[in-house]
Amino acid sequence: MDFQINHCDVFTQAADCLVLSVYQGGTQSQVVQEFDKLTNNTLTNLLKSGDFKAKVGDTLVLFHIENIAAKKVLLVGIGEQINATTDKLATITKSIANQLASLNSQHVLVSLEHVAKEESYRYIRHFIELINYHCYQFNDYKTTKSPSLVTKKISLVVDQADCQLEAQQGLKHGIAISNAIKATRTLANQPSNVCNAQYLADKAGKLDDQFPTLTTSYYDESALAKLGMNAYLAVGQGSKNESIMTVMEYHGAKDKHAAPIVLVGKGLTFDSGGISIKPAAGMDEMKYDMCGAATVYGVMQAISELHLPINVVGVMAGCENMPGSGAYRPGDILTTLSGQTVEVINTDAEGRLVLCDVLTFVERFKPTAVIDIATLTGACIVALGHHYTGIMGNDDALVNELVSASNKAHDKAWQLPLDGDFQEQIKSTCADIVNSAGRDGGTITAGCFLSRFTQKYRWAHLDIAGTAWVSGAKKGATGRPVAMLIEYLLSKSC
Ligand code: BES
Ligand code: MN
Ligand code: ZN
Repeated sequence: MDFQINHCDVFTQAADCLVLSVYQGGTQSQVVQEFDKLTNNTLTNLLKSGDFKAKVGDTLVLFHIENIAAKKVLLVGIGEQINATTDKLATITKSIANQLASLNSQHVLVSLEHVAKEESYRYIRHFIELINYHCYQFNDYKTTKSPSLVTKKISLVVDQADCQLEAQQGLKHGIAISNAIKATRTLANQPSNVCNAQYLADKAGKLDDQFPTLTTSYYDESALAKLGMNAYLAVGQGSKNESIMTVMEYHGAKDKHAAPIVLVGKGLTFDSGGISIKPAAGMDEMKYDMCGAATVYGVMQAISELHLPINVVGVMAGCENMPGSGAYRPGDILTTLSGQTVEVINTDAEGRLVLCDVLTFVERFKPTAVIDIATLTGACIVALGHHYTGIMGNDDALVNELVSASNKAHDKAWQLPLDGDFQEQIKSTCADIVNSAGRDGGTITAGCFLSRFTQKYRWAHLDIAGTAWVSGAKKGATGRPVAMLIEYLLSKSC
């Protein structure tokens, strides 16, 4: 879908549909008042009769109205007030997207006259992100595709004099973030018989071909072995699919040698649990155990598209956790790249084993900050549900910046504590640490485990087990926390 900023007269501009935002009470915006006048108080009457209440997300379609060039008018309720930093915008855009699915409208005009100048950047950006989110379809494997959206172009109509610059910036960022979220969702939605570590590597290769600012390198099993990444390798050794670590380097800063921000994504293209095998119910969803890697992919695409003046390294830690005859076992003791030894208690606590070696590997980039993104623990869903990404780290300033970015981007994250008290739980009797410390505080003890490998730099860990995908009738990847990370990287790009 094509979005543009426009500053036309919405009543004389030819279009298939005109969207007007209507307040539930009080004074309507100039455009809506004018609409009411042009149409002999149609709106006043609708509101009076109660046929249209203008509650948040309410919609009403009017056809062939005299004095209006657009073929249809879609009235959408915005409640008492609206700004870009409220969940209301999600409800409103969902209603608009639902209507667009059935309205047969190629060109849609959306009046944004009710949006204040200070809000226009955020409002436009979120509006675009949300419309794209709600209109997303994953059809790759349907022999009968669901009908594709008729809407091809959405013109966002703003006051020309007032908010041109902000609006254009919101448009640019909204489109790049939407593209990134879409790319992440589509990569994450691929089934494990298609998307293995090689597939992740190939996707990175294609991105690299598209952008000269990207350089990609690959570490297959023999390269990982040479480096001594034994914990990473152990996880993949029960699978026929080769483990491959893909490293994408983006150089956008003036100083090509300026210290980069490093993103590390857990890329378990399938997590059966290994020998500590998972129960059958819901195991299909473990194809999403590479959502961290898919997030890194989307973010690398967006910063390349936006030419952000920073340096970023993105690592996708691809591998598959299977109970093959070569599989690692509970009781095995692994020597990690850092030299620390780990007693395997549970082969299903594999994410931290893959990540710990990558976190040691990335020391070589001398990063200003390292952020890992992982569907790491079911316990995170118990703690925070599906609304908040869990965040932990060894540097409160970094964690605070990320939490603040998450609030701005509407991609929420909540900090969990990582104090010494929890570190006791991961002691081993026969190695340095165990890979699983039981149910209690499971998200935090996983964070503690990773913290043993991140002492040389500022580090934050995002547990996206509850936020990266949704289950049930609408099963599919969400593209979280792409928006939050891009927000953070934009804040580093001034
Ligand atoms: N990938 C899972 C975590 C997960 C489970 C994410 C369900 C989303 C939904 C991870 O590898 C895992 O299996 N973790 C174990 C850790 C335990 C064995 C200490 C878990 O959460 O049960
Ligand atoms: Mn697991
Ligand atoms: Zn896993």
